[in-house]
Amino acid sequence: MSKRYTITAALPYTNGPIHIGHLAGVYVPSDIYARYLRLTGNDVAFICGSDEHGVPITIKAKKEGVTPQDIVDKYHAIIKKSFEDFGITFDNYSRTSAKIHHDTAQEFFKTLYNKNEFIEEVTEQLYDAEANQFLADRFIVGTCPKCGYEESYGDQCENCGTSHNATDLINPKSAITGNVPTLKETKHWFLPLNKHEDFLREWILKGHKKDWKPNVYGQVKSWVDDGLRPRAVTRDLGWGIPVPVEGGEGKVLYVWFDAPIGYISATKEWAAREGKNWEDYWKDEKTKLVHFIGKDNIVFHCIIFPSMLKAEGSYILPDNVPANEFLNLEGKKLSTSKNWAVWLPDYLIDFPNQQDVLRYALTANAPESKDNDFTWKDFQARNNNELVAIFGNFINRVVVLTNKYYDGVVPSPSNYTAIDEETLATVKAYPAVISSSIERYRFREASQELMNLARLGNKYLADEEPWKTIKTDEGRTKTVMFVALQIASALAVLSEPFLPFTSVKLKGILDSNDNVWEDISTKEILLSASHQIGKGELLFSKIEDAEIQKQLDKLEASKKANEAANKVVEPQKEEIVFDDFTKLDIRVGTILEAEKMPKTKKLLVLKVDTGIDTRTIVSGIAESFKPEEVVGKRVTVLVNLAPRKLRGVESQGMILMTEDEGGNLVFVNPDIDGVSNGLKIS
Ligand code: 2FM
Ligand code: ZN
Repeated sequence: MSKRYTITAALPYTNGPIHIGHLAGVYVPSDIYARYLRLTGNDVAFICGSDEHGVPITIKAKKEGVTPQDIVDKYHAIIKKSFEDFGITFDNYSRTSAKIHHDTAQEFFKTLYNKNEFIEEVTEQLYDAEANQFLADRFIVGTCPKCGYEESYGDQCENCGTSHNATDLINPKSAITGNVPTLKETKHWFLPLNKHEDFLREWILKGHKKDWKPNVYGQVKSWVDDGLRPRAVTRDLGWGIPVPVEGGEGKVLYVWFDAPIGYISATKEWAAREGKNWEDYWKDEKTKLVHFIGKDNIVFHCIIFPSMLKAEGSYILPDNVPANEFLNLEGKKLSTSKNWAVWLPDYLIDFPNQQDVLRYALTANAPESKDNDFTWKDFQARNNNELVAIFGNFINRVVVLTNKYYDGVVPSPSNYTAIDEETLATVKAYPAVISSSIERYRFREASQELMNLARLGNKYLADEEPWKTIKTDEGRTKTVMFVALQIASALAVLSEPFLPFTSVKLKGILDSNDNVWEDISTKEILLSASHQIGKGELLFSKIEDAEIQKQLDKLEASKKANEAANKVVEPQKEEIVFDDFTKLDIRVGTILEAEKMPKTKKLLVLKVDTGIDTRTIVSGIAESFKPEEVVGKRVTVLVNLAPRKLRGVESQGMILMTEDEGGNLVFVNPDIDGVSNGLKIS
């Protein structure tokens, strides 16, 4: 039965282009979901837009010597184009600097204000006197009171995801000047989350326990169990939406107050354009609201925004928030500031018209239940071994043989064998199988089911061998090709949510645009006998090792450039007297043996000839050196360091190490002719 859905995808911050992590975590899964729902006849509003307020944008503008408006204009255009290029079918991609959004957010604030849903309070907030600036959100870093992470921001810790007030940070420092902040009084409006605890408990912890992802449910439960506190929803900043009530002059709404309201304003903008009623999508209990986000946004979508909606009183609440975990890149956290990323515009330069390959690789390896790693090797394997060798190969064989044997005209089948019947019945079952995975937000699984359908096609052809029967049994060959063409037709429809560009191409090749999702399981025939198909064209092409190496080299170069740019010479340590120095007994030694410490990643157990004796030293260099690489190395050893046990092995000294230009560990190497073990370094 057709339903109404409001699907939102997290509004990206407009301070840079978007990368594969964004695509994998939010935009590809939400697009698969929206396309699928449309294909199955539902009424869908798929909503997104640029998140144009907040401190990161101000910081970027400052760094580039331009205005925040310049920054958001630039990146809004770039991001919007990337989404279009990758076939993300938003019904509306808006922006939070739009007037309709400012009006909607201010109206929302005023409603809560008039309903006395805020606490208005003058409190002491962190202040940087040198910068003449209150320090909220990303203007302040300090130690997270929950997990101890030392680089937590004022509003949220990126390490544990906890959302807190800036004054909760331990050892806070201004991100602008590095100064220790002072406290200064200022008035703000607070949303008393504690007041909504019972509602949140009832709504999520009881109502959605079974159907929400365990990672989302678990995080929310732990926050609610820890107890919620009032959160300021206004800021002393110059960039943002002005606070629309008395006393709010010079203050703006907290970006996380206005951004989720952006989903509502973008829906309003779309509805006005399309002649629809936006309230059907936000205020009708029968509408299903689903937020697609990354895990760092859980608190805002499962606690703060629902509390705002509840306090306002006339809105529906999200039915599900299928947050994804993070995608890493080649084993390391994706990072915009360190340029450790694959940017979408760059991808399309190197792999033009290969959007579906990336969509597929990211879906097949999506970080749905745990953080996952994107590697270029895996990308190549997904393309070469699955898209080319399975999907593309099947379609190619069907199209080439149909053209070769029948000039592209779908042949009439004769009697079906049991295998044919079984194959056609299996094809009919696929829509339900794929639907079931998509409806449970298991897009990886769904993409693998799609590939299984192509596998089924390949197996059918390999078993029935029409290229052999063409010489002996024309009738049988026609039946086999007819069945294979039905599978190809089903693939053209069922691939659309995952591989939209391929689906269009394939429908073009088959010259068939008539079937919809449910036809695959209900229609007897998807492609009729005597229908003329088009000429073949390759759907996918092999990606060579050299192309992958080019990407790896690019990452390596970006790592080096980043290290060079961020190279900081550590300040000199506290002064010591000569006697302190002479206490250190540093000798020349040679590593005689080396082996990996079992069950550790970092440690090597070394036997070192120090000239005095042969002793065991445990060294944290295993991630940089294999044991066999270090045997025979001349090294510098601090021999009179008090022994200490590491994983049960007593380490009797320390090998001195430093880092090269690229940040790689290297030995402080005393390899000079004529120097023997035991020689003192002084
Ligand atoms: O984390 C982010 O990139 C935020 N800009 C997401 C905002 S989602 C929403 F609430 F608007
Ligand atoms: Zn933390």
